[in-house]
Amino acid sequence: MPLRTLINELETDHKLRRIAARVSPELELAAITERSGKASDGGPALLFEQGAGHRFCVVTNLFGTEERTALALGESSLRAFGKRIHASLLAVTGQSADERLRALLAADTLQPVVNHRPPCREIIAPPDLSVIPALTFWPQETVPSLTLPLVFTTDPDTGQQNCGMYRVQIHDSDSATINFSGQSGGGRHLQAWREKNLPMPVAIALGGDPALIWAAGAPLPQECDELHMAAWVSGRIQTVTCGLSQPLLVPAEAEIVIEGVIHPGETRAEGLFGNHTGGYVANPAAPLFRITSISHRADPICPATLVGTPPKEDCYLAKASEQLLLAMLKIAHPPVRDLHMPLETIFHGCALIGVEDSKEGQGIELLQALRSSGPLQRAKLLILLDSDIDIRNPSLSYWRAINQLDESRVFIEQGRISIDATGIDTTRLVEHERVTLELISRRWSEYGLG
Ligand SMILES: Cc1cc2nc3c(=O)[nH]c(=O)nc-3n(C[C@H](O)[C@H](O)[C@H](O)COP(=O)(O)O)c2cc1C
Repeated sequence: MPLRTLINELETDHKLRRIAARVSPELELAAITERSGKASDGGPALLFEQGAGHRFCVVTNLFGTEERTALALGESSLRAFGKRIHASLLAVTGQSADERLRALLAADTLQPVVNHRPPCREIIAPPDLSVIPALTFWPQETVPSLTLPLVFTTDPDTGQQNCGMYRVQIHDSDSATINFSGQSGGGRHLQAWREKNLPMPVAIALGGDPALIWAAGAPLPQECDELHMAAWVSGRIQTVTCGLSQPLLVPAEAEIVIEGVIHPGETRAEGLFGNHTGGYVANPAAPLFRITSISHRADPICPATLVGTPPKEDCYLAKASEQLLLAMLKIAHPPVRDLHMPLETIFHGCALIGVEDSKEGQGIELLQALRSSGPLQRAKLLILLDSDIDIRNPSLSYWRAINQLDESRVFIEQGRISIDATGIDTTRLVEHERVTLELISRRWSEYGLG
């Protein structure tokens, strides 16, 4: 559903609060978001109407619970989302899970259409980043950031477009840095443009379909188009428009579009950024993005997320990605039944994997396969468990994984731990027999225990 429809639905349902008071973009807005998000129900989404001192509004905590993230993706629950992906992957052909997802997303019906009067062009503004409501979240941050940006780049040879989520820091009125990792789609494109010694065109969209916001941060296999993924997830064809100053297609529904270039080899040190590890990080040589144009809606609402010690909003976006990952793992490895990445560790890949009917040696084979390729390849901790237990229950999982640990099934490679804790003989678990339990039930009042 469109971002504004989601905002309206949440407000009607009392899951979004408007804040009319003037709020500073420096720390105050983040501190309000953090305090409100600590409520036991994850707190409401917050719409800061005065845009933190700018005339732009800012919305935070939009994806702040599993329920809200599911709603944003048009589903009743994230489980239902995962089941839908799995059923659809089973219905297409392909040698691997990646191929099946590519086949699913290749449908012509998912092709974006061009809107020549897009909302994101209502105002063509001067190319001055000081109008953008970038925020500082934690005290040692000196440079304001955009934390939910959709960064569009292309491959210089094939023209294939990528949309990824990478933090952006606004350094001054006409330049910013973008923190692409080397393995990311944007990072690979940058390398390809650098090799040709050509400036890379970049567009940053803020806002747009919530399904696209999720897809930008999701670990899609290479050559899966995020706009197609968003169309498949939301059931709405995505609309795009041509770049104002760069040869890129950008989401027509975006709230704000910033376009520019990264010149070959031009970098700048980021300021400190408080991230989900609970500490500050900074890329000492982040690619420098020089602005060529800015446009926005007449009344833009800029989505932002407070990144910090989990659980925070980004964990729930990752929980939706966990469902994609599980659907793909089930296709690639049929014994896999369930996947749980605890919120506290979700971005560094502690994964508990529930496996059905694991035969002798099968668990080790599966761990080797997971370590050789795919998104769990670099996970810090992988634990395989029999699917008869609830892998979301930490006490059961620790009990199974650690107490009966067979050391020959623990592998440590490059500091990454893999544990095969499957194959527990449940007939040897200490449990009372039914006959004894029935006996004591019958006699319970005799024991004087109430
Ligand atoms: C809120 C949020 C912030 C992120 N920040 C970064 C970042 O700064 N750099 C990065 O490389 N990946 C970052 N990621 C992860 C990427 O978005 C993710 O790996 C995504 O799959 C990248 O898409 P790509 O494979 O098309 O590059 C972030 C994800 C989220 C949800």
